[in-house]
Amino acid sequence: MDKQAMQWQNNLPKTIDIINAIPKISDTEKKHLLVKIKQELKKQDAVLVAHYYTAKDLQQLADDTGGCVSDSLEMARFGKQHSATTLIVAGVRFMGETAKILSPEKRVLMPTLEAECSLDLGCNMEDFSTFCAQHPDRTVVVYANTSAKVKARADWVVTSGIASKIVAHLAERGEKILWAPDKHLGAYIQKITQADMLLWDGSCVVHDEFKTQALVTLRQQHPDAAILVHPESPYSLVEMADVVGSTTQLIKAVQTLPNKTFIVATDNGIFYKMQQIAPEKQLLEAPTGGIGGSCQMCAHCPWMAMNSLSNLLHVLETGENAIQVREDVRKKALVSTQRMIDFANKLDIQVAGKSTV
Ligand code: 13P
Ligand code: SF4
Repeated sequence: MDKQAMQWQNNLPKTIDIINAIPKISDTEKKHLLVKIKQELKKQDAVLVAHYYTAKDLQQLADDTGGCVSDSLEMARFGKQHSATTLIVAGVRFMGETAKILSPEKRVLMPTLEAECSLDLGCNMEDFSTFCAQHPDRTVVVYANTSAKVKARADWVVTSGIASKIVAHLAERGEKILWAPDKHLGAYIQKITQADMLLWDGSCVVHDEFKTQALVTLRQQHPDAAILVHPESPYSLVEMADVVGSTTQLIKAVQTLPNKTFIVATDNGIFYKMQQIAPEKQLLEAPTGGIGGSCQMCAHCPWMAMNSLSNLLHVLETGENAIQVREDVRKKALVSTQRMIDFANKLDIQVAGKSTV
């Protein structure tokens, strides 16, 4: 190992440092917020649905109050199936919009409306519509990380947990695909399904930062580690992976694979759940800085991090930040989104019945 690589390895933060890096409030303040939030959730018949990338306090709260912590597919399914009349969605805006598309009768609140997603921002409706109009022969498949308007223009919505299965199904029917917005996820799905896909040029600001060469070095230092990669990462990284999958699939890999060490290429908010279900495993962040770079590991979505206990209590107390989706847009977006939910539900039934998919 060269000197620079050694120095870089010595500077690796431990998992616990990563978790502790999430902004702190005092214990007394936290207790007070938690008591008030729990009271409000009950009083308002509300349930908290949080993504794995949000702060551990929010994930813990969702678990403790009968809510859900999951990937974007399960967040959508949970919100729709749950009987609560208010859904509090801790995540980014497209997740709140998806909840509203599926459950218009429910009030959907988000701790902040400023939590965006670079994939959503990089796929505006006008340009996307033009792209679709240029390729009318193609089935339009969009990633869930898009606005309600883009979903309304699509034939299918997919999440990373189910994208390859849906695209394989469409390819089997002989359909050619127009894919947006994540070019990395699109390229990965194209590779594994061999589908005819035309890709929009978008990417995730977090996953785009993982560095392949630095990962090769880290792998050499931990030869027994399994590499887990979210498919929003560049394909050169995906090629090195032992497991490629949605956030839920990566968490399951930590639980089920025999390896003691894992190198994880996704947002570091996921370490909380991974460590909770497999405390004996060693988790290392995949490098986001090249060798010698000033920031070696900083994989955390700037928008997911905007959700906190304080702004969650604020929206519960004020009713602010209710998600609104224009009804004509919602109805159209429901068609493409519901297709995914129905496909996922059918898949679950088939898996439970042990039929092949
Ligand atoms: P998952 O559906 O895998 O949770 O991904 C959502 C996301 O935004 C990842 O960056
Ligand atoms: Fe979007 Fe990337 Fe943040 Fe996920 S991690 S919400 S894809 S910006």
